[in-house]
Amino acid sequence: MMSKLEVSFAGMRLRNPTLLASGVMGETGDSLLKVASAGAGGLVTKSIGLEARKGYPNPTLVELADGYINAMGLPGPGIDAFAEEMETAKRGGVPIIGSLFAATPGDFTALAGRMEEYGAAAVELNLSCPHAKGYGMEVGVDPDAVKSIVSEVKGSVGIPVLAKLTPNTHRLVEVARAVESAGGDGIVAINTVKAMAISVEAKRPVLYNRTGGLSGPAVKGVGLRCVYELYEAVDLPLMGVGGVESARDALEYMMAGAAAVQVGSAVGRKGLGVFGAICDGLSEYMAEAGVKDLGEIVGVAHVQ
Ligand SMILES: Cc1cc2nc3c(=O)[nH]c(=O)nc-3n(C[C@H](O)[C@H](O)[C@H](O)COP(=O)(O)O)c2cc1C
Repeated sequence: MMSKLEVSFAGMRLRNPTLLASGVMGETGDSLLKVASAGAGGLVTKSIGLEARKGYPNPTLVELADGYINAMGLPGPGIDAFAEEMETAKRGGVPIIGSLFAATPGDFTALAGRMEEYGAAAVELNLSCPHAKGYGMEVGVDPDAVKSIVSEVKGSVGIPVLAKLTPNTHRLVEVARAVESAGGDGIVAINTVKAMAISVEAKRPVLYNRTGGLSGPAVKGVGLRCVYELYEAVDLPLMGVGGVESARDALEYMMAGAAAVQVGSAVGRKGLGVFGAICDGLSEYMAEAGVKDLGEIVGVAHVQ
């Protein structure tokens, strides 16, 4: 990978601005290693909670022409069992961001301390999952709740604390300001957009949970709008997520204000080669446009 793609985000050095998004190939150390080998600049783990969880029964995923709707229900091994996965994943040599879900500031703090012990470069607080009762978006749409979670976690760990926000609210900017005032180090936007699919044959919702979260190209316009609004509202580094499949998509997010991007659904839709393809495209763009450092294009779409 060419070093000119290097970016820094909340103090982390990334060899390139593409990271694996939470929930896609982030559940085991081996799968995280594969994504590092495929060229990602950083890895976000599947959201991990205090206890092991089974998640919802099938169907948990619907494939659409332009994305997915998922309602996995945050399945996972729990934080104790994740120690081993982190040991393996660290061999990939890229920063690992531990994604966490919890219902209370105390539980988030306990999880963050463990992730720091395991060697995570940062934690990403999942304040945005649209389909797990009592978690995610249910706390992440309340600026006061967000403020107390972020400030407690900040007070307890030394690594950067990122907040992943939901687009499913009219209070996005208020929530982001709460993250900033609590001392958060960066914002990740967006998580999935609350959605539904109906089976005409069965005359009922396809997903066991009825509703789920829409991702992929279908949500890119929503993600771009959120990043653009956040760039004008807060003075924190932003990571753009939602429908990034190509260098052009990454450039759009950077021009809207993202210093780096995460790639989730495209890993399923296009395969692991997507990281290399995005990076090659970014290098070509930089050569053609005479851009020496990707930081030069962050936020350039903001016209007076
Ligand atoms: C199958 C699946 C599972 C996901 N699980 C998580 C998760 O555990 N935690 C989280 O913060 N986001 C999760 N997400 C959301 C993604 O990290 C990302 O925010 C969203 O899918 C938009 O990006 P994309 O269009 O590149 O997929 C999941 C997405 C998918 C498709």
